[in-house]
Amino acid sequence: MLVADTRFWEEFVSSSQELRQPCHYPGFFAGEPVSIHDFEEVFRAATRQPADSGLTIRVYVDGGHRADDYERVMTDPPRPDESLEDWAARLFGERKFGIVLNGAESVSESLSRQVARFLDPFFARRGVPYGGIDVAFFVGNYGFTPFGIHVDDRTHVLHAHLGPGTKEMSLWDPAVYQKHRGSLADCYEPETMLPFGQTFAIRPQDLFYLPAGYFHVGNTPRFSVALAVSFIELSNKELLELAVLEEINAQSSQLGTRLAPIRDDRPAAAWSAAADADVPLATWLRRSVVAYRLGLLSNHGLRQSPELVSCDPAALPGTSLATVKPFRMHLHEREGQPPMLLVRRRRIPVLAHPRVPSLLARLDEGEALAVDDVVRELSGECSGADVTAWLARLVAAGGLEIQSP
Ligand SMILES: [Fe+2]
Repeated sequence: MLVADTRFWEEFVSSSQELRQPCHYPGFFAGEPVSIHDFEEVFRAATRQPADSGLTIRVYVDGGHRADDYERVMTDPPRPDESLEDWAARLFGERKFGIVLNGAESVSESLSRQVARFLDPFFARRGVPYGGIDVAFFVGNYGFTPFGIHVDDRTHVLHAHLGPGTKEMSLWDPAVYQKHRGSLADCYEPETMLPFGQTFAIRPQDLFYLPAGYFHVGNTPRFSVALAVSFIELSNKELLELAVLEEINAQSSQLGTRLAPIRDDRPAAAWSAAADADVPLATWLRRSVVAYRLGLLSNHGLRQSPELVSCDPAALPGTSLATVKPFRMHLHEREGQPPMLLVRRRRIPVLAHPRVPSLLARLDEGEALAVDDVVRELSGECSGADVTAWLARLVAAGGLEIQSP
């Protein structure tokens, strides 16, 4: 089980020296960190994803990046009764292969909830990184990581190992690396550098923490599966880019259109690109960043929203709804604009009724609300059909769930 209590996270923050030092916890998890079944489900779901989804898969065979092998992975997922290891043997035979899958949270709600709960006490102490959390799998028997010894500047990785093979992770402090490598370039002959680094043997059920800023390479000569949960930090520049892009994607905006050439017979100040011409750009930017932050918080830091689930509004009367813990929906009050509800990193308009904020506050406190009561409470200004349609959108987005009686 992917479980760690507050005491562990306190200890982790101190022994990693505020996330700056690597840490290895042998035998940390009781049993598998997550079920292999969840992994297999992710692979099956990945092949159903549209190309523009948040999930990315890279396939390496015999050390190279191969488009045809990628095609095979995407068109021939594990069969319902086939284990990941058998599936890999069927696809790749004796060849050495590696599959790196990022954004797994977008296709597995079970995994999303497990990771969110796992990190909950850590976030309560430390907060959510601006770049969010990526949930990734490393699968294969590829030997050394196909992309060689490299450094990730802003990504800290918690590595939960499923095995069955042991993975060796070698790390180099940048100064030591530069001294022996002669530069800070990536290295594709990792063996030459091993004597100068520190190598950890990561076995099934181990937890390993790889901080940003260390050169590193993994080595898994025997088949293994690893879950990698990454914390991603951002600079102000990166935040601004992401927040603005997200705002543009959420509403059609002049910001997405190509700029007309600059002409010196036009006033120097003539630039109007804000989404709403009446809103000063500073206000618009601040609002974009607020929406970005609330969106990320609403998905407990996870970068990708879950897939929408189908929810029939007509099936809701007679049921009760509660929030999906530990996720929280966030109301974004916007000056001069109707409020917006951030639900699992999606933006959903708020039903126009003065009692909606207090209903949301009750849900946020953990109360389950009977749909019939909500319909009654909002009657007059909103029809029953409007209310159930709105609630169904919150269920579909993964913010609310139907309570079993
Ligand atoms: Fe890396």
